This record gives sequence, structure tokens and C-alpha cells, in this order.
Amino acid sequence: MMKIFSALFSLAALPAFTLAGDVVPIMSMYVPLPETSLLHGVFHVIKSNARAPVTTMISIAVSTDDTVIWYDHHERDGYDTDGSVAASTRVWGDGDSGNGCAPGVSPCTDATDVLIAGQVIILKNEVPVPRGNAILFDGGDKISASLPIAVTRSAYPSGEPGSMMAGAVEVIEQEQWGTRFVAPVGQDVGSETDAFEYSAFAIMAGDEGATISCPGEFKTLAQGEAVVIRVDQGWELTSDKPIQVDLITGDIGSTYQLRWYSLVPVEQWSNEYYAPVGDTKGETKVTIYNPGTRRITVTCTLPNPNDSYTFRVPAKSIRSSEIIRDGDGAKFSAGAGNNFFAFSSTDTEGGGQIYDWGYPLIPSGSLTNEVVVGLGYGCTDMNCNGDGERSVVWITAVSDATIHVDYNNDGNNVATKSVRALESVYFTDDNDEDMSGARIWAEKNGEPVNIAAAWGQKASLSKSGDDYALDLGTVILPFEPTRTSCSVDIKEDRDGDGEISAGDIVVETIEVFNVGAMPVSEGSIAVETLGGTVNVEATDGRGGTKIYTIEYEVPPGVSTVTGTCEVVPAPPTTSPTSSPTGVPTVSPTAGPTGGPTAGPTGGPTASPTAGPTGGPTGAPTGGPTGGPTGGPTGGPTASPTGGPTGGLTGGPTASPTGGPNETPTEAPTDPPAPDQPTPGDRTITDAPVVFVKGDPHFKTFGGELYDFHGECDLVLLHNPQFMNGLGMDVHVRTKIEDFWSSVETAAIKIGDDTLESWSSRGKHPCGRIQGKDPVEDFQVLCPCGHSLD
Ligand SMILES: *[C@@H]1O[C@H](CO)[C@@H](O)[C@H](O)[C@H]1NC(C)=O
Repeated sequence: MMKIFSALFSLAALPAFTLAGDVVPIMSMYVPLPETSLLHGVFHVIKSNARAPVTTMISIAVSTDDTVIWYDHHERDGYDTDGSVAASTRVWGDGDSGNGCAPGVSPCTDATDVLIAGQVIILKNEVPVPRGNAILFDGGDKISASLPIAVTRSAYPSGEPGSMMAGAVEVIEQEQWGTRFVAPVGQDVGSETDAFEYSAFAIMAGDEGATISCPGEFKTLAQGEAVVIRVDQGWELTSDKPIQVDLITGDIGSTYQLRWYSLVPVEQWSNEYYAPVGDTKGETKVTIYNPGTRRITVTCTLPNPNDSYTFRVPAKSIRSSEIIRDGDGAKFSAGAGNNFFAFSSTDTEGGGQIYDWGYPLIPSGSLTNEVVVGLGYGCTDMNCNGDGERSVVWITAVSDATIHVDYNNDGNNVATKSVRALESVYFTDDNDEDMSGARIWAEKNGEPVNIAAAWGQKASLSKSGDDYALDLGTVILPFEPTRTSCSVDIKEDRDGDGEISAGDIVVETIEVFNVGAMPVSEGSIAVETLGGTVNVEATDGRGGTKIYTIEYEVPPGVSTVTGTCEVVPAPPTTSPTSSPTGVPTVSPTAGPTGGPTAGPTGGPTASPTAGPTGGPTGAPTGGPTGGPTGGPTGGPTASPTGGPTGGLTGGPTASPTGGPNETPTEAPTDPPAPDQPTPGDRTITDAPVVFVKGDPHFKTFGGELYDFHGECDLVLLHNPQFMNGLGMDVHVRTKIEDFWSSVETAAIKIGDDTLESWSSRGKHPCGRIQGKDPVEDFQVLCPCGHSLD
């Protein structure tokens, strides 16, 4: 990199987002689970008397004073585009009441249109299905913010199950989305409580839309569009653009057993996770999914190391830990390279209906020393009926630490508690029975200590039929204490093309916000830009800002610079070879005169997340300068001594998985003469096994090709040559189940004999057909049957 000049200076701390005079979003997210797919694809499948409207509640916790939030409704005028704010978009906290104030702010004036740390915006409304186009707070809406916010989405249907069926899930910012997901459980996985009988991916596309693919199906989703796909264990979903995926599991026909988990993309899976929840009465266990092809050994480390144990997880399978007891958090780890997925479930052994909630464990590499609680109600609708909170915020620290809890994130009322490594502690706010908006952080002697956190029901604080208990919960996402915003201006347009391109001189402005509770110490972090790494000086906590500029030449091969910068650990300084033996008696009179003499000693620990943004900009300037200087010096010295030593050793090892994709254009000219079977003594010795994989591509009786699976009668197989001309036909009748359909009955005709088999309804709506004699048990793998919003 040709850095010709680099200036590093800090301006006096300015209020945040003065960059270029604009307040800019630094994070954005989409509200997952649009109500239409939630009602038809989830609630109604679990319990058929679930009805519209769906009650939606979106909770937004503001972490830092002077945050601006853009709430971009998807209805009517679509999403905002770069540089334009649609009429339906509300902008909260910008001091302009003309574009709205956050709900709850009254009266709404320019002066009151501000957002402060600890403020929790609750957006609650009933959403009709079919949806109509009334502007509501609902799934598919986009939320952006100028400073970090924590968002939780919850919902429940009307009808008999009502709020007992409520689910909640943490909403992940787009930057954390991924392109490859694997189902750690699926509807083919049995469990004591039938917890996975319903298993689905709820998928949503972001700013760029996405084309997703899972076994047998491609589907293009527009910006903010969602789809629910039922899954079997191990199913892989890929996408050309980042998507958000929530895993929903439930027990079909049960009253309340339903759990929602945000799913970490496979590229972020790890071999180490921390679990903050230990609940003896709730029978909390952590389940590990091993996606690999070899068995792995997982170590569960507990606060008392003597209690730690290992267990084995076979390839492509799940195994659960022992119950994690009151007061214990846990670490789950496996050897290097043995990445796995881990999630917690409470209420694992009984009916699974009283305290059922779960959360995904966060990979240890993603943890920080801080969380901000998006939704932390102690009871239903913050009403505990005088009996105390049933739902709590659970914390575990990776090493011994002091935990600080700022209940309202306003700097007042901060409690502290010392904890041992991996101990599980929980917090409630007795003042308002609500932990929403609280900020919790951990340190030891002023150095940050990473924590894992979750919000959910504590079994010993609730009972069966407790109308005030919320049997749901979420993980509380790590809060990144440092955020940056970078912009690039052209200083010298050397090639005169009016654009930033290779060889031009640019000035990059780097704004660093420390939104964490603790100050950033000198030399602990740096910001990496295309022009080099900038060390960040000591910065105050809670809104401390530093601004730097760096000037550099755009390197060759880079077509433009967008100002994407990233916080990294500060580069190591060379350490002295022996420790000083005494205290210095005078202070140095001058700063160091040179930079570090050695580069970092290790390479980057992760691969770059994006490829280069441009190809080479010019043709090579010269060809090769000379021809070869001599011809080959010798011919081959020996003739081959032998021919191939063996023939093929085996035939194909698998049957073809699909039928021919073209119809023959002419009939066979000479059908072989059939051997007429003797009526009455024919037995079918080899029962035909028919597989349908992926999305069904059937023909109707009329010959029309169907690749969507509606309610109809279809020809699955027509083979007049089967058994020397006896002939075999398989017809299926499908039945619509909400927005997909399942095979209800199948008729198999061999010669003149016909038999019918039918599905075992309810259990696996698109699973296995249980046949009668003799052609039984042929399998229809669940297609990516989807319910569209
Ligand atoms: C662990 O076991 C050892 C040996 O039995 C014992 O001496 C020690 O006190 C135990 N540690 C704890 C924390 O219980």
C-alpha cells in the first residue's frame, strides 16, 4: 500500500454525528416474521384455532443519548432509497416533530423529539390477516439508527391459545446476517416433548433482496420479503445475499410449546459457547448440533471445575447436556475445527408447556463485556399481580468479574455484584418490574470481561396456569461498545476523471463513538482503513467521540473507496525483553521519535468478509520482454513401460435421484413381448420404492406440468414397461394445508391391481406416507413447501 502521507490528529471531542453535517444510520434491521406467514405458517399449524388479528409488539431500547431512529414502514410507499425518505417513514429523535416523535412522547414538539439512553419505545398493535395496507408496526418494517439500539420482536395470535402462544425473538442487525444456514434440528428429530415436530426457517431478505436455495428449490425474495420453510435436520439453506433466519420449533397440536431462535449463519459457528441460564426446576439443558462428518467430544465446563464433564455428539446429530442447575452457567467447547451449533431449552422433560422457552447460545468470539436489554418484562404486560417478577435477565461472565447493572441506563441506580467465572446470576428491576432498556457490563480491575446474557422465565418464580408469566425469552445480543463512521473526500484527482480512483489522493475522516459504559483506554483499539491503521486514543464511555483524518493514495487495483472502516485491536507494540526493576524518577520530555520497529507478529485471525471491490483498472503496459532462450534439451528418455493396470472396479454406487427431464419424442418401435403373468399367483417380491426429492415436479392427468404443489390429483409415475409390460402407475392426491399442500393419498396400480395408501395426518404434514400392504412406507421427503407472505 502506497501511503504517501498520513496525518493523525484528534479534534476536540465533538458531539456525535456531525460528520459532513449529517446524521447517518450506523445500523439497520428488519422486523422478522411478517404476520401473514406467522399466522398461516406457524401459529395455525401448531394450533388450528389460532386466528387473526396477530398482536405484534416491537420493543426498541435506546442505548445512547441523541440517537436518531428511522422507522421505515414497508406499506404503500415501499422502502426509503439512498438519499430519499419515503412519506410513511417516521424519524424519531431528530428534533423535527414534522416527521414524527417516538410513540409515547407527548406532547410531540421539536423540543421533545429527542431520544435518550434508557428510553424504551414499545410499538404494539393488532395486525389483521389478510394484511390490507393500513400503516402498522409489523413484520417487514425496516429500522435504522444513528447509534446502537436493541430490538426485540414478539407476537401472538387471537383465538383460544392467545398470548399463551406468544413468541419473542431478538432482532439482528443486517451487518450480522449471513448467506449459509443449516437446520440444527428438524421435524424428523424426535424428542421427549416433541419439541421439534414443527421446525421451520423463517427467512427474510434485506436491502438487496436475495435468491435463496434449499433442497430442490430456488426462490427470489424482494427487499423485506419473507418466507417460511419447514425443515428437516441438517438441511442447508444458501443465499446470494445476506438474509436473516429465525428457527421456529414447536409441538404440533400442543397448546403452547413453541420456541423462537435467531439462527447464527454457519460461517459464524464456533467451537466454544457460553450459556448464562441454569434452572434446576426448569430442567434447562443445552443442545449441541454437530454438523460435521465425525463424532465430536464436547466439554461442559461449570463454575466448579470438579462438576465439568464431557459428552459425545455423533456426526449430523444433536445431544443435550445434563440439566444446568440453579446458580450454574456453563461453557461448551470442542477441539479446534470442530465447530458446532448450540441452543438452550427450558422445560425439557415434562410436557414442555409450562416454562417453554429457549435461546441460541452466542459464539464466544462474538461476546463483548456489555449488553443492553431490548425486552425484559418481568411479567405479562408488566403486571406481576404483586407476586414479583417471573422473567429475569440471566448473566454469566467468562472469568471472575464485577457485574454492573444500570437498571434504567441513565447512570443513576447502578447495582454491582461480584461473580465467579461461569456462575449464573439473574437480575430483576423491582421498581417497575421491567428490565427493558437496562445496560449491564462486566469488568475486573477496570479491564473488560466478556459476558453472555439472556432474558426469560425462571421456573421457580412461576407456576402452572400462571397468567402473569411469560413463557418466552430471548438471548440478549452482545453490545458492541465501539462504533465507527467513515467518509472519504477526494483531495487530488490525479487522473482528472472526477471520481475517486486508483492513484488519486483522498482524505478519510474517521469518527469513533464509544457508546460503551466504560472508557476506552489508550492503545487498546484501532481503526483499520484502506489507508492504514489509526490508533484510537483514550475515549470516554457513554457517547465519547474521537475524530481522525488520514490522507492516502488510492492503491492500484482499487476502483473506488467507500469509507468502510472497522474497529480492530490496536497493533501490538514491541515488548521490552526484561521488566523494569524500578519506578522511573522523571517523566519523559518528548514523545517517541519513531514508529514501532516490528509489524504485528500474527496474521489476521479471520478471512476478509468481502472480496476486492474492483478489478484492475488498466491493461498491462508491456508484453514479455524476450522469447525463450533455447529449445528443449532432450526428448523423453524412456517409453512407457506398461498399460493401465486395472479396469473399473465398481459400478455406480447410487441410483439416479431424478427422472429423465425430457419426454421421448417418439414411441419405442419394438416393445419387448411381455411375459404374461399367470393370474392369481403373482407376488410382488421387490416392493417398488418411490422417492420424490425436493420440490415436486408433477404432471396432472391432463399432462400439465406442476411445479407448485397445490390441491389436485397428480401423476407421480407412469411406467407401462414396468415388470415387462405389466405397467405401474402412481397417482397422488394432495390436500392444501394453509399455503402449502401435503400428499394425502396415493394410489399405486400394478397391472390390474390397485392399492391406496394415505398419510398419517398431522404428524408430518409433508413427511412420510404410511402405506398398507404390500407397497408400504414409501417416502415423500418434505419439499421446501413454503407459505408466502
Ligand atoms: C475438587 O475436588 C478436589 C479433590 O476431591 C477437592 O480437593 C476440591 O476442594 C474440589 N473443588 C471444589 C471447588 O469443590
